[in-house]
Amino acid sequence: MGPLPSALRQAGAPRVAPPTATLTKPPAKGPASIPFGRKDMIRRKPHHKEKAAMRASLSIRIGLTALWLAAASPALAADDGRTAIDLPPDVRVAFLEEMRTHMGSLDGVIQLLSSGDIKGAGTLARKEMAIGRGKGFGRYMTPEFREIGFGFHRAADDFARIAERLPDKPDSAGWAELMGGLAAITTHCNACHGAFRLK
Ligand code: HEC
Repeated sequence: MGPLPSALRQAGAPRVAPPTATLTKPPAKGPASIPFGRKDMIRRKPHHKEKAAMRASLSIRIGLTALWLAAASPALAADDGRTAIDLPPDVRVAFLEEMRTHMGSLDGVIQLLSSGDIKGAGTLARKEMAIGRGKGFGRYMTPEFREIGFGFHRAADDFARIAERLPDKPDSAGWAELMGGLAAITTHCNACHGAFRLK
C-alpha cells in the first residue's frame, strides 16, 4: 500500500483508514475524525497523480479500441502502396501456410548448401518450389502476381538444374553460379512481397 494521498495527510487525519483499492474511489463512509464532510470527500478535486492515472487509463482504452479496430477490420489497414489481394478466408489461411512452407524450403536449401550437400539442395528446391508445385492460388491472383509466381517457380527449377550439373565439390566459379541461382529465387520472393499484400 502506498502513502496516503497528500490531501488527507495535509488535512491532519492520521487515524483515517488507509485508502483501499484505487485512489479514484472515495471511501463509502468517512470516519468521524475527518475534519470535512463526506460530500467534500466525494467532490474533492482529484489529486494530480489520480488525474494522471485517469488520463493514462483513458489513453489505454483509446489504444485498445484502435487495436481492436485494426484487428477486426483489415480493410482499415493503412495503405502501404502495395496491391491488396482479397482472398476467401480459407484460401487466405492456406496461402499464408504455403508461404511459411516456402520460407522453410528456402532455409532448407541454404542449410544443405552450407553443409556442402549441393545435390540435396537442388533436389529440395525442385521438390518444394519448382514449377507444378503451386497450389492453384494463381486463379485468385492478378496476371502480374501470376507472372512473378511463375518466375519464382522457374528460378527454383533453374537452381535445381545448376545443382544437378555441377560436380559434388564445385570450384569457386561453380559456387558463384549456385549463389546466382539462389539469388534468382529470393529476388522473386522479394519482388512479390514488395508489390502485393493480402487484404
Ligand atoms: C508471387 C508472389 C509471392 C512470391 C513469389 C512469394 N511470396 Fe511470400 N507472400 C506473398 C504475399 C502476397 C504475402 C502476404 C503479405 C502481406 O499480406 O503482407 C506473402 C507472405 C509471406 C510470408 C508471411 C506468412 C505469414 O504467415 O504471414 C512469408 C514467410 C513468405 N511470404 C515467404 C516467402 C518466401 C521465402 C518466398 C520465396 C522463396 C516467397 N514468400 C515468395 C506473395 C509471394
